[in-house]
Amino acid sequence: MIYMARPQMGDEEKAAVIAVLESGQLAQGSVVSEFEQGFADYCGVRYGIATTNGTTALHVALLAHEIGQGDEVITVPFTFIASANSILYVGAKPVFVDIDPDSFNIDVDQIESAITPRTKAIMPVDLYGNPAEMSRIREIAARHGLAIIEDAAQAHGAEENGKRMGSWGTGCFSFYPTKNITTGEGGMVTTSDDCIADRARLLRAHGMRVRYYHEMLGYNFRMTNIHAAIGLAQLPKLEAFNERRIANAAYLSEQLPKDKVKVPTVRPGTRHVFHQYTVRVLPPLDRDKVREQLAARGVGTEVYYPVPVHRQQLYLDLGYGYQSFPESERAAREVVSLPVHPGLTQQDLETIVEAVEAL
Ligand SMILES: Cc1ncc(COP(=O)(O)O)c(C=O)c1O
Repeated sequence: MIYMARPQMGDEEKAAVIAVLESGQLAQGSVVSEFEQGFADYCGVRYGIATTNGTTALHVALLAHEIGQGDEVITVPFTFIASANSILYVGAKPVFVDIDPDSFNIDVDQIESAITPRTKAIMPVDLYGNPAEMSRIREIAARHGLAIIEDAAQAHGAEENGKRMGSWGTGCFSFYPTKNITTGEGGMVTTSDDCIADRARLLRAHGMRVRYYHEMLGYNFRMTNIHAAIGLAQLPKLEAFNERRIANAAYLSEQLPKDKVKVPTVRPGTRHVFHQYTVRVLPPLDRDKVREQLAARGVGTEVYYPVPVHRQQLYLDLGYGYQSFPESERAAREVVSLPVHPGLTQQDLETIVEAVEAL
């Protein structure tokens, strides 16, 4: 079976973990600091604040911006549930805006009509590693005095006009094993703002600056040196991983039959890092049958995401219905992701193309 993801673990990662185990410094320490600085440099920001996962990075980012009860945050319903859940964690209200059908990202033309006096932030999601329209979003945010809390969980190294995702406001990343680099589980808040960085550091460690003196209600969202060691060993490989993903995606987009699937588009001036390679299944093909047929030919697939957030049980009382976000609904019905990870061989890529051709 050609799997959807395969973490690329080499001797460097193994040696780095063993070195931490032998050092005796297992919890958050200097290895975490080194990973934070390395990833911040990679993103083009001053600070990285490592957390236990991408969800806690989003949670910390919202709290660092002092977003809470009575506030609204604009985001998309076509995303992983963690984007919206983080808004609920802080007691704020997610206000959804539909996606653009080409990019699967927030439809920027619809943002301004969703802004109210309670809106505090816009949370764009760079879905599948495809950068949201950050220049335009930044302009809208500046005009309305809103923060940008970017869910870049899937977009390590993605760019718009040479500027990396995670550097447009406050960025939030995940290092889950399927991601473009991993720490096992892990997350990072990225920012160049001194005050946000300081608050984020306090929030992820029980509000503690001086040992056992607690300035605010914080959490234990600390990354361990063990996880950071894996991340530090992965970081120098990230560009090669991204280039491999981009090349795999280019091959698939060229070879896949266009009467069966609609291949992803890359917006001019952007770098899509293909965390996922996601196509739309075209009629009359049925997506579930397509998945079965591909599996029978040894090609793993996944649907990210089959139910938009506003129709998840937890979100029903926000009052959105089936008609609220037609493009998110259509994407949820039509998309399927094919393997694109850097561990694929040329033979794997050919098998994927042949399997789609045979549909
Ligand atoms: C878009 C998006 N946001 C947030 C997250 C949460 O990250 P984590 O799984 O590391 O908590 C993920 C990870 O799957 C994601 O894909």
